[in-house]
Amino acid sequence: MAETEGKRGKKFQGPKGTRDFYPREMARRRYIEQAWRKVAIRHGFDEIEGPTFESSDLYAVKSGEGILGELFQAFSGKSPEEVEQVKATGRAPYALRPEFTPTLARMFADKAASLPRPTKWFAIPLHYRAERPQRGRLREFLQWNVDVIGDGSAAADAEVIAAAVGLFRELGLESKHLTVRLSNRDLVSEMLRASGVGEASVPAALTLLDRRDRMPPEVFESSCAEIGLDPIAFIRGLDEVQKQMNEALAALENGRANPPIDRSSPATAGLVALLAELAARDILKWCEFDFSIVRGLAYYTGTVFEITAQGQRAIAGGGRYDRLIEMFGGPPTPAVGFGMGDVVLSLVLEENGLMPDEAMLAEYLNTRPDAFIISAGGPECDAAVVPLVAEMRQAGLHARRSYKSTSKIDKLLKDAAACFARTAIIIDDAYSGGTVSVKDLTDGTQHILKREELPGWIRDRRAAKP
Ligand code: HAM
Repeated sequence: MAETEGKRGKKFQGPKGTRDFYPREMARRRYIEQAWRKVAIRHGFDEIEGPTFESSDLYAVKSGEGILGELFQAFSGKSPEEVEQVKATGRAPYALRPEFTPTLARMFADKAASLPRPTKWFAIPLHYRAERPQRGRLREFLQWNVDVIGDGSAAADAEVIAAAVGLFRELGLESKHLTVRLSNRDLVSEMLRASGVGEASVPAALTLLDRRDRMPPEVFESSCAEIGLDPIAFIRGLDEVQKQMNEALAALENGRANPPIDRSSPATAGLVALLAELAARDILKWCEFDFSIVRGLAYYTGTVFEITAQGQRAIAGGGRYDRLIEMFGGPPTPAVGFGMGDVVLSLVLEENGLMPDEAMLAEYLNTRPDAFIISAGGPECDAAVVPLVAEMRQAGLHARRSYKSTSKIDKLLKDAAACFARTAIIIDDAYSGGTVSVKDLTDGTQHILKREELPGWIRDRRAAKP
C-alpha cells in the first residue's frame, strides 16, 4: 500500500486497481446501477445477492485457469488449521469473489426443488480479480449479472441478450456504438473434431482459440501443432461458416423469413433458432456472428457472446452453462446469462458524450433538494432556519440550508443552485406574520406562501414538473 509520512501522520492511498467514490463519482456509479436495476426488473428478473467471499474450491471446479490465477485469497487467520493450510498449499480456504456465476449456481442447486423454471435472476455484485490494472480493467469492479435458469431454449439466450440491449437503449447507446458478437462453443468444438482434433484435446483447443489474440502468432501455431490442429485451414473453415451465418442474419434483418443455411448440424440449427428469437425481439441489428469468440471460462457449453465497442475491451460477456448447476450437486439444469462490468461501460458512455452531467444525474437519481432554506433578515430569521428545515424534513421533503455565515442573499441563492435545489425558501421579516417568500428555481418565479402551505405546495409543484 502506498503511503507517505508527513508531520500530520501517515497518509494512505487506496490499493492499486481500486477506486474511491467521492459524491460526483458515486452519482455516476448510482446512475449505472439504477439503470441496470430498472432494466432488469423491466425484463422480469428478480434481484439476488450472495456473500463477498466464497470457498476457493467453488472456483476451482469450473471457472478456468484465467480466473484461478487471479483470485484474491482470504482467510480469517484465527484457526491454526487455516494458517497451516495456507503455509502448506499456498492457497487460502476462501477467495474474494472474482465472478458471480459459481455463487448463483451454488444458490440455485441448494434450493432447486422449490425454485420455478425458468428462474430469472439478476445481481449487481462487486468483484475482485488480481489482474494488472489497465484501461477498462481494475482489481475491484461492479458487474451486472443477468441469468435465466432452467430453460435450455434459444428463447432464453435471446431473453438475456435483449436485457443487455434494453440497458444500452436506456442509456442512449445505439447499435452503431456496440456489437453483440455471437458464437457457439458446440459449433466450434464440432468443427475442431471434424478437422482432426481428438476429443480429449477439444477443451485445450478452445482455450487456445480464446487466447489467440493475446499470444505471438508463432506460439499459437506451435501450440496448435501440438494438438494436431492446422490453424490456417481451421480458421478458414470457421470464417466460411461465419460468413454464411452473417448472410442469414442480414437476410432475416431485411425481412426474408427463411434464409438459406445448412441446418444439418445441431449447432447451426440452434443458431438459426436463436436468430429467429433475436428477430422477434427486434434486436438483430445489434448482433453479428463472430466465431473467434469461445470465452475463457471453462463452464460454458453452447451459445457464447461478447459485447464490444470499437477500440475497447469487452463491455459484457456470457453464454450457456448447462452443466454447472449439476456440478454443484443440483439437478441437471440448463442456464444462460452474462456479466457486464461498470468500468468499460462508463468509458463508452463518456466517449460518446452520454454520461449525464451533475444536474441531470441529480434529476435521474432523485437527489435534488426540494427546498433550500435561507435567512434574509435579522437574528430572529436566522434562528428560524433550523426549525423550518426540521419541519420540512418531518414532512418528508428533502431540505437543505447553507452552513456559511454570510447573509448575502445572492451567495446563498448560488449555494441553492449549486446543489440543484428546486426551490429557495427565504425567511424575512414577514416570517413573524406567518409567511415566507419562495423562489421556484426551476422557472425563476416568486411566490408568497403561508408557512403551513409550504409542504403541500412544494409537493404539488414537484409532481407538476417532475
Ligand atoms: P467475464 O467475461 O469474466 O464473465 O466478465 C464479464 C464482464 O465483466 C467483462 O466483459 C468486463 O466488462 C467485466 N470485467 C471482467 N473483469 C474485469 C476487470 N478486471 N475490471 C473491470 N471489468 C471487468 C463473467 O464474469 C461471467 N461470470 C459472466 C456470466 C454471467 N456468464 C453467465 N452469467
